[in-house]
Amino acid sequence: MDNPFTYGGIVTDQHFADRAAEMEELSREMQNLNRVFLVSPRRFGKTCLLFNLMARLRQEGMAVAYLDLNACPDLASLAVSLTQATSRVLETNTEKLLKAFSALKRLRPRVSVGADGGISAGVELAGESREGVFALLEGMRHAEDLARRKDRKLVVVMDEFSDLPKYNGGTVEKAMRSEIQQHTRIGYIFSGSEHAVMLAMCRDRRRAFYKMGRLMELGPIPRGVYAEFVQGWMKKGGRTVSRDDLDRLFFLSDDIPYNIQRMCHTLWEQTRDVPSVSRDRIEGLPHLIARQDSAHFELVWQSASQQQKALLMALAEEPKAKPFSRDFQLKYAIGPSSSIKASLESLVRKGILTRSRSGAYRFADTFMRYWVLNLGEPS
Ligand SMILES: Nc1ncnc2c1ncn2[C@@H]1O[C@H](COP(=O)(O)OP(=O)(O)O)[C@@H](O)[C@H]1O
Ligand SMILES: [Mg+2]
Repeated sequence: MDNPFTYGGIVTDQHFADRAAEMEELSREMQNLNRVFLVSPRRFGKTCLLFNLMARLRQEGMAVAYLDLNACPDLASLAVSLTQATSRVLETNTEKLLKAFSALKRLRPRVSVGADGGISAGVELAGESREGVFALLEGMRHAEDLARRKDRKLVVVMDEFSDLPKYNGGTVEKAMRSEIQQHTRIGYIFSGSEHAVMLAMCRDRRRAFYKMGRLMELGPIPRGVYAEFVQGWMKKGGRTVSRDDLDRLFFLSDDIPYNIQRMCHTLWEQTRDVPSVSRDRIEGLPHLIARQDSAHFELVWQSASQQQKALLMALAEEPKAKPFSRDFQLKYAIGPSSSIKASLESLVRKGILTRSRSGAYRFADTFMRYWVLNLGEPS
């Protein structure tokens, strides 16, 4: 039997755990063509949730377009992607699409020939690239008009939306807001991992997206439901794992779905010959995965200064420590507080640590903590 615990990519159908309530809620919001800001730290499963949701919305008869802001380095490419993605789901006839595109001013039709010899209709910027914002607005308007003509409901999903400020924020936000507010055929989901950026966008009254939609925070998957999912697959594969041991696994994973999938995947491979799971095996998982990823952690480690390394080692030992406390600084011979502050900020900027809303600093990658703990030990 293939390993049922997949990680890293997009996980769908029977390999996708829970999120039933979120699917229900988002589906209802999109049926009503509302706007939702979806927020969680990285690797909590936003993109997976969105792909499963999109499949459901399509089944429910809606047209759905997906955009990843990560894949759009500038406004011009965002304009092109948005126009193409929205138009193609509403109109599949290439000739009609080209005709529709030829009515645009800031964008013009472009025909591309695929590997199979088939042609597809796309757009490119008609003017200079600094006119990207106007092209984007035109593309958005075009999507709304096309949805009306086709009498369809359209859902536009923008992933990695906390990247928006990279397009020179303010102006783009304002322009998008006034356009979106005129739309009656399109529901929007803006999904992002940078909590502070997302929150400021929709909760700060000075910002353009203030109160434009509701904020939905994606938390961990409840342990009970995730345990059923894991135990179900384990049983199918002739393995048993106790709820108690699974709770330990969830604890070690920080309840982050990516970590849970990764650990369960590894556990599955380890138990191909020995079908029952021992507590020792569970305890060993994060160390094993840390070793598998060591080439990556090595590079990350090299990017840190001596003082930052000392701090990371101390935080690995005591994840709950208060780095500004005198005891902590004395114990690990680090400090003073001012330089610790600078180090922490730099480590957050580098993406090695994350700062939780309660102000605690954690390793962004749970497994890196184990790699640091094992430094100096023979591998
Ligand atoms: N509901 C889920 N069921 C199973 N695995 C999941 C689920 N949600 C997330 N994952 C795992 O976590 C990984 C990261 O999820 P992803 O959707 O990319 O997170 P995000 O977009 O929030 O950064 C996925 O590749 C998958 O392995
Ligand atoms: Mg994602």
